[in-house]
Amino acid sequence: MRGTDIQLAAEYLLLGETVAIPTETVYGLAANALDETAVARVFDVKQRPLHNPLIIHVADADQITRYTTGLLPAAQKLLSHFAPGPLTLLLPRNSSIPDIVTAGSPLVAVRIPDHPVTLELLRLTDLPLAAPSANPFGYISPTTAGHVEKMLGEKIPYVLDGGPCDAGIESTIIGFPDGVPTIYREGAIPKDKIEKIIGPVAVFAGKKIHAPGMSAVHYSPNTPLILCDDIEQAIRDHDHFRMGVITYGNYAAGVTADNQWILCKDNDWQTAAHNLYAALHEMDERNYELIIAKTFPETGLGSALNDRLRRAAMKGVGNGNQATN
Ligand code: TXA
Ligand code: MG
Repeated sequence: MRGTDIQLAAEYLLLGETVAIPTETVYGLAANALDETAVARVFDVKQRPLHNPLIIHVADADQITRYTTGLLPAAQKLLSHFAPGPLTLLLPRNSSIPDIVTAGSPLVAVRIPDHPVTLELLRLTDLPLAAPSANPFGYISPTTAGHVEKMLGEKIPYVLDGGPCDAGIESTIIGFPDGVPTIYREGAIPKDKIEKIIGPVAVFAGKKIHAPGMSAVHYSPNTPLILCDDIEQAIRDHDHFRMGVITYGNYAAGVTADNQWILCKDNDWQTAAHNLYAALHEMDERNYELIIAKTFPETGLGSALNDRLRRAAMKGVGNGNQATN
């Protein structure tokens, strides 16, 4: 069922059920983070491996201190600038957070979502809500309640509809290994904005995969996708395929306009992020043989957009990779 009844969503959550919730980034699949059985349901519904930990969502900074220990000054500064907002911090957890949430890690990922409906829900339940993106593991994240309903509607009792997600791309995840601020997942807050507040930050490039968002194949439509700089050349090279095109600025030559998704005009990457997943969901429904997407400039949000498209492309034509959904 889908609706706008925050009270009903709260009741389901208090009963240990899973509920899809709106956030400013993408829709989440929420459960009471303090209830192991409820959290196990989230993994089950998503078919997500248990070794991939979940983000907890809380109502305010006070609640963060309820579940974590030791906020470094840099973390505090980030919170005062970006919370509520698409910022997820990896912080030492205290004993109230069950192992299943963090996959046994001593760190818990926590954020304060900037969405009035979910903030109200968090206040009503007075619970931390563990919530990964509300898609089957490996597939495209949902940015509307309709996307969630289509993918998971039969597996969960309620989709709380808060309208289309504003940012449209997941939160930026920052940890502090040895005290050094480090981006673990690029997201809706670009690196340069973070550096303006706390100075230079590292970007995690280790071999160990801490996040499924960092595994090669992820955010993948069922349709094979290729990502390229010269989109018109790619269209000519693949003209034997029935294809859809994702681009920005102007239409590309060689494909009719109704088979093209212009994510934004005038280098407005925020609008492109807002539109990206909705375009991919829609394109998957059109049953194209191929999606061709144009690389964004690596500045600001462009870098996170390229990251998502690169992972979506890992399943590309004929490379034999399988999506993990
Ligand atoms: O914008 C978002 O972050 C959305 C909305 C719903 O809040 N959530 C989201 O969750 O994208 P999910 O589960 O799809 O991605 C969360 C990422 C995963 O890559 C996970 O591995 C990582 O966060 N993560 C969660 N807890 C972690 C931890 N304790 N240590 C390291 N990585 C963690
Ligand atoms: Mg996800």
